[in-house]
Amino acid sequence: MASVTGASTTRADQAREAVVEAALGKLDLDAKARLLAGQDMWSLPGIPEIGLASLVMSDGPIGVRGVRWTADDPSVALPSPTALAAAWDPELARRAGQLLAQEARRKGVHVLLAPTVNLHRSPLGGRHFEAYSEDPYLTGEIGTGYVRGVQDGGVGTTVKHFVANDAETDRFTVDNIVSPRPLRELYLAPFEAIVAQARPWGIMAAYNQVNGSTMTEHRHLQNEVLRGEWGFDGYVVSDWLAARSTVGALLGGLDVAMPGPTTVYGEALVAAVGAGEVAEHAVDDAVRRVLRLAARVGILDGAPPAVTELPAPLDGEALAREVARRSFVLVRNEGRGDSGGGRPVLPITLDGTAPDGTAPDGTAPGRTGTIALIGAAARDARILGGGSAVVFPDHIVSPLDGLTRALPEGALTYSLGADPNEELADADKGFELTAVCRAADGRVLGTSTVPGGRVQWAGADLPEGVTHEELHTVELTGRFTPRESGEHAFGTRGLGGFVLTVDGDTVFDGAEELGLSSDPFEAFFGGPVERARAGLTEGEKVEISLLHTVHKIPDAPIKAVAFSLLHLGPRHDPDELIARAVEAARAADTAVVVVATTERVESEGFDRADLRLPGRQDDLVRAVAAANPNTVVVVNTGSPVELPWREEVAAILLSWFPGQEGGAALADVLLGAAEPGGRLPTTWPVALADAPVSATTPADGELHYTEGVFIGYRAWERAGTTPAYPFGHGLGYTDWEYETLTATPSDARVRLRNTGTRTGREVVQIYLAPVPGRSPDTPERPARWLAGFAPVEAESGQSVEVRIPLRRRAFEIWDEESGAWSFVPGTYEVQAARSVTDRRLNGLVEARA
Ligand code: BGC
Repeated sequence: MASVTGASTTRADQAREAVVEAALGKLDLDAKARLLAGQDMWSLPGIPEIGLASLVMSDGPIGVRGVRWTADDPSVALPSPTALAAAWDPELARRAGQLLAQEARRKGVHVLLAPTVNLHRSPLGGRHFEAYSEDPYLTGEIGTGYVRGVQDGGVGTTVKHFVANDAETDRFTVDNIVSPRPLRELYLAPFEAIVAQARPWGIMAAYNQVNGSTMTEHRHLQNEVLRGEWGFDGYVVSDWLAARSTVGALLGGLDVAMPGPTTVYGEALVAAVGAGEVAEHAVDDAVRRVLRLAARVGILDGAPPAVTELPAPLDGEALAREVARRSFVLVRNEGRGDSGGGRPVLPITLDGTAPDGTAPDGTAPGRTGTIALIGAAARDARILGGGSAVVFPDHIVSPLDGLTRALPEGALTYSLGADPNEELADADKGFELTAVCRAADGRVLGTSTVPGGRVQWAGADLPEGVTHEELHTVELTGRFTPRESGEHAFGTRGLGGFVLTVDGDTVFDGAEELGLSSDPFEAFFGGPVERARAGLTEGEKVEISLLHTVHKIPDAPIKAVAFSLLHLGPRHDPDELIARAVEAARAADTAVVVVATTERVESEGFDRADLRLPGRQDDLVRAVAAANPNTVVVVNTGSPVELPWREEVAAILLSWFPGQEGGAALADVLLGAAEPGGRLPTTWPVALADAPVSATTPADGELHYTEGVFIGYRAWERAGTTPAYPFGHGLGYTDWEYETLTATPSDARVRLRNTGTRTGREVVQIYLAPVPGRSPDTPERPARWLAGFAPVEAESGQSVEVRIPLRRRAFEIWDEESGAWSFVPGTYEVQAARSVTDRRLNGLVEARA
């Protein structure tokens, strides 16, 4: 594989630079200014005269959506970034990246808008699921693997959001006040590590401000730190609609303003140069970086692309399943409450014998093995988080699908138990819809199939034959086959006129106007509105139509058609649902309850208000656990939730947002074909009130990071509070004995033995703890911090040794007085651990500068 990973300049780099310079020399100011501005939602203009094709970008990070925001252009959906981080394996992240590059190439995408490497500062952060960890080192390592993988495939990455975009509240305006030390040691650290180790071709400037300057104009962080100190040579693109001014952004280091066609660059930039506010050579610098990116991804004629030999093709389904299995974190696994002889409840063995690591073959029904599967998310799996991270896979394996396939007939029952989806959601199961686009005179301009009830067309992404200028109405029309009898609710999302017809009756005719939200994406992702209810019968098809008169906003920065037909199935008496689930649980050997958040809880665009599971799910778990001692709870959320019943159930498996193959992976893990491989990348609190850092709401426009370097486990340890589950925690299906540790300031060698009965995988974690009083005085440091880790595998009885390098940076702090990294000599304990609190071996090292 030929990829540019080292810092040295190769002959290909030189050849590429020569072509870039020649191309730059041929452009006039107009063309240059145009190239720095999006031509539409996702691309830059091509310039045929210099052999430059249009550069296409796409979200990220769990799949490649492409330039369409609809389900008719499917993409492989991998598990959420929290899940990828939970595998603690940069090589796995690299393979995930390679798959995404493969997907990007298939969809004509040159640059992926990912990974997200902001930190889990507060558990309330709305995009928590989309970032990796509370720890900057783990984040940097996973991000490095991911960037390397994507770029191995010749596709660019855009590491985002630079920087301190750690929450969503007032994200367009908030000024995050962060002192230099936490900024360097925590928030900038993953970006710095990724720039040094993986040389990303792009960075995305965040919406927010940091210390008084909006990030798209942050000269110090973008020009001096990112480019100056770290030597970043890629392009900086604004987050979507984040660029605020022409001169400020260009001088502040922003190369590309997205999306278009209306941006602060283009004509406005030509005018700024004409007025003498911006020197043309500053424009040239930005254009050079964009051309370099184009050359790297192979769309500038004559320039050698960065990658000439692609990695071997990957099987997306298999990889999605593998990542999911490797990411599930088993936080609790107690003995079976029946005749299981103290053996842990997981893995579930169908014939009552000890687990041997092989998959149940599914042919011979087990003697004792029956499972009651319970929960709305067990049937309608929640596989990803909301917002720009959404992709549309062509199929989803729910837990119900996965277990049905893996178990013999008659071994599984399903009951709903509790339905947290109390709000209308995009019409989905049972709907067959087509979008018909018409002009004002009623002429049909074009049609498109819409697998779900959501229409999201932005920029040039319209059905064939349709233009924004001519488009007047979009009618979603087709049939709906109810899964249940009862009263069905229908509604709409979006702005504009709506006429809703169900089974020939017009049940709503009205309009929705623009609200007062300052978030320009509100119209896109905005709230649901119920419009009508209708009594329908299971299995009986009805005609359905939603006629939408497109809401056109003059001078809108993005021309978009965005609305949804929404649906909510019949409501049930919640007590009765729980009672039925309890009955099913009582009749089975094992109860598996899947609990989840909803899209209205975890999504881009807002932070969470609390960490509770929505609806009656806590009551459900308690009732099921009281009825069946072998209750396993699967927690299908992207980020921490409170589990108030955690001591009452036999096992708890965190499955994150597990991607399209989540249900298959879940069957693998529950039934013992695979071990749950994950370790917590973030601390799980007992209750929100215990979390040392949680507030995300700015006061007078400012959010002060007053906790300094104490976030995550650094803060929990300082506060002395015990979380539900500590950072790094996660059980497998075998046991490990840590035998020896040999430590020096530059590495730790750990020997450990698999003392259990099956082959297993362990994540060896190395923490560095300064011995109190044995270092010169410094500002307060955490009790310990993660300094290295490595996954190892061993067969039952086998002993393995792993060498984990320690970096100089692990012994450094950012000295605010000198504005530089400072090595802190002294005595440190090197700790080999299974989690930040389960430390098995330690050794002392003397660190000298
Ligand atoms: C998000 C970015 C995303 C962009 C394009 C923004 O709202 O913050 O992460 O890449 O939209 O969808």
